[in-house]
This record gives sequence, C-alpha cells and structure tokens, in this order.
Amino acid sequence: MQANPRILVTRRWPAACEKRLSEHYQVTFNAQNEPLGVDALKAAMRDYDAVLPTVTDSLNSEVFSQDSIRCRFIGNFGVGYNHIDMVSVRSRGIVVSNTPDVLTDCTADIAMLLLLMSARRASEGEILLRAGQWSGWHPTHLLGTKVAGKTLGLVGFGRIAKAVAQRAHFGFGMKILVIGRKSIPQAELDPFHAQEADSLESLLSHSDFVSLHCPGSAENRHLINAERLKAMKPESILINTARGDVIDSEALIEALQSRQIRAAGLDVYEGEPHLHPGFLTLDNVSLLPHLGSATEETRTGMGMRVIDNLDAFFRGETPPDKVA
Ligand code: DGY
Repeated sequence: MQANPRILVTRRWPAACEKRLSEHYQVTFNAQNEPLGVDALKAAMRDYDAVLPTVTDSLNSEVFSQDSIRCRFIGNFGVGYNHIDMVSVRSRGIVVSNTPDVLTDCTADIAMLLLLMSARRASEGEILLRAGQWSGWHPTHLLGTKVAGKTLGLVGFGRIAKAVAQRAHFGFGMKILVIGRKSIPQAELDPFHAQEADSLESLLSHSDFVSLHCPGSAENRHLINAERLKAMKPESILINTARGDVIDSEALIEALQSRQIRAAGLDVYEGEPHLHPGFLTLDNVSLLPHLGSATEETRTGMGMRVIDNLDAFFRGETPPDKVA
C-alpha cells in the first residue's frame, strides 16, 4: 500500500464512513459541504492521490485538461457516474469505481413512493391540509387512480428496475412490462412474470405507469420527448428516479399542463438543484429532491463501498466496482 495517500472527499459523508477514512488515510473533508466548482476540482486532480466525488461534482473534460495530474483513483459515491467524463479518465489512466447494490432497495422504494403519491394524489392532499383548506370527506374528493391490476412499464431492467418489479408485482399486484437496451433473457423476466415489449413506443402505449431506470448518458438524453409522451396513454403516470435529463422537461410540463398524461412523479431533474419553474405551477406532479438513496443505512453503505474500492486500489488490486 502506498504510504499515507492523500484523499479528498468532495462532500460530507455519514460519520462512520468519515471515521473509517480518517483512520487509514490522510483525508481532506469539505467542511463547508458546498459543491466544488471546476477550479477546485482541477486543483483536486493536481494535489490528491484519490478523489471521492459524488453526483453534484461535474468532472467534465476541463477538469482533466491540465498537464499535471496526481490523482490515480476516483471513488464515486453513487451508482450513476454520468457526471464524470469517462473519455478523459481513460485517457489519463485514472481508475474509477461506483457503488452498485447498496442503494437498490431504497431507490426502488422511492420509485414506488412516487408511483403511489402520483396515483393517489398525496401531494395535493397534503398541500390542502397544510393550507387549512380541507372541508371534509366527500365521495368525489381528490379521486386518484387504482394501482392494483395496472401495468407498470419499466424502461431499463437493471438492479433497481428489478427491485421495483418485485415490489410492484408481488406487493401491489401490478403487471410488469419491460424494455432494455438489449433483449432481456426469459430467465430474468420469469421471476416477476414480466413481459418484454417490442419497442419503447410499444411499452409506452401499453403501460398505465412508466418508470425510468436507464442510465443518464448522451444516448439517453431526452429519451422521453414530446413524441414519446404522445405515445403514452392519456391516463398514464410517468415516474423518474434515474437522471433528470432522460426526460425533456419542457415537453413533460406541456404534457402535464394539457393533461395529455395524467401525472408524473419526479426525484431527479435536468440541471438540478434548479428545477424548471414550470413544475412548481402544476398540481399533477409529485416532486422529491433526489432522495433515491437517502436513508442512513444506504448512505453509510455507499460510503463504506467507496472505501472498500479505495482500499483495494491502494493494495494494488482491481477495485471490485471498477467502471473505468
Ligand atoms: C446515484 O447513486 O447515482 C444516485 O442518484 C445518488 O442517490
């Protein structure tokens, strides 16, 4: 193991993870807990042996453009790494790892939470109560839509999508339709009695709920655009816990305003934390602030997973969750 490598952690982590890091490395924590800008990230690449960033750090090509780079390992706190320019890290010979598995259950829970909130108009109900405007129960008040027996279309069929399928099918009696980047083996569909759609358009037009579970990438940017929103059923509900830019926000706002689709439930946004102001004027969208993995257990699990990868790297081994 390299003697006392210098490590930078870009945001505050759960206490147990910071403690473990401090015991084994020469660590700098970001006491202010503010996201780092390009200049600070460039300095981090120059001055540290390893950098442990997260989703709020834009590690774009400029960050890696300088001549002198000391950093040899990036341990991303998070499963998605679309904020890291992979072409640059590969060309600079930097190893990158992520944190799969540990956040699967909690992110799937948030997808189900948004699905239920949107179907049952939970946000509208709470806003009404908090405003002191509830005049009492009546037979036609805030009627939502039933979940049991409906079809849930999953776009992407990785770990989180499968955990959603498990909950939705066995917990809520939903039928599961899926589409992946590649054809999905029958053995992966069978446990959820799921069916594979012929195309994304077909999935959109046959689903009552659509939940997005594909990675954020240039390829998936605005995968759900105006045309695809038109393909959805008028009573359908769109859920996004993946990455904000998978949906064209303007097109979604228009579809929600015109009631072209019934509702949406969102945990992630294009340009977050600055979400499109149009969302705030709508009563048929449920909004959460990127809470997918936000439980004490999961965030601690994510930090520990980063440290496992970091330890492996400095022992001279291949980190178990190496993505580059
Ligand atoms: C991830 O891990 O990519 C999540 O979006 C962070 O919760």
